[in-house]
Amino acid sequence: MSIAKKEYKRITTKTLVDMKKNGEKISMLTAYDYTMARIVDGAGIDVILVGDSASNVMAGHETTLPITLDQMIYHASSVVRGINRSLVVVDLPFGSYQSDPKEALRSAIRIMKESGGHAVKLEGGKELKEVIKRILNAGIPVMGHLGLTPQSIYKFGTYTVRAKEADEAQALKEDALMLEKAGCFAIVLEKVPAALAAEVAKSVSIPIIGIGAGNGVDGQVLVTHDMLGMTYEFNPRFLRRYLDMYTEMTTAFENYSKDVKSGDFPNEEEQY
Ligand code: KIV
Repeated sequence: MSIAKKEYKRITTKTLVDMKKNGEKISMLTAYDYTMARIVDGAGIDVILVGDSASNVMAGHETTLPITLDQMIYHASSVVRGINRSLVVVDLPFGSYQSDPKEALRSAIRIMKESGGHAVKLEGGKELKEVIKRILNAGIPVMGHLGLTPQSIYKFGTYTVRAKEADEAQALKEDALMLEKAGCFAIVLEKVPAALAAEVAKSVSIPIIGIGAGNGVDGQVLVTHDMLGMTYEFNPRFLRRYLDMYTEMTTAFENYSKDVKSGDFPNEEEQY
């Protein structure tokens, strides 16, 4: 059992802020279903993100834009049934919060009520100030997301590193301060230079969880299917693969097929 597991029975948004204060790094991974959530939670991962990356990983879409609020609620409710300890953060999908604060609040309430998730995440900075305040006023914790924001992919046109130029870096630093002031409990910072990410992490008291943002931040998040090596087309520099599940699974499926076709499976002990 990990130290973190012994120390915290249940992870809350306050636990994460305390972890930053104590210099304890935060681990976060994605999950979209019950079985994966049970394993991730059981391994002592602090935060489970029901990411809109489900649009890519689970549904095979090229971007995160097509996934709907109903689909996010389905994934999130499956995850919530699988956890005992982790904090479950659910992405507000594209189109469910950008047009006006009231609609954003309705979407966030649906997520909390219908999935049982513990917090929502949304992508963007100062343009979302009113949206964030409205959601927070209803008692719903909000995680921000800055840097590479995949829901805006058609605006940027590329998934390359963000905020390399001084003006974009300055805007990002201001956005982080705004999110903290507005009341967000944490911020995901995606694909920005490590030095900038470390500077942002030092400038705020809420945790900065990085993905492709170096080691000077307060925690790390990866897409579980990527770190397990189930996906093989996606090879960004920041991705560390802990398994080669694509090969392992392919071998298992090939062996099963071979056994079925040869009549080896099921054997005497595997039948009634
Ligand atoms: O949707 C997602 O999985 C995410 C992570 C990449 C941070 O937002």
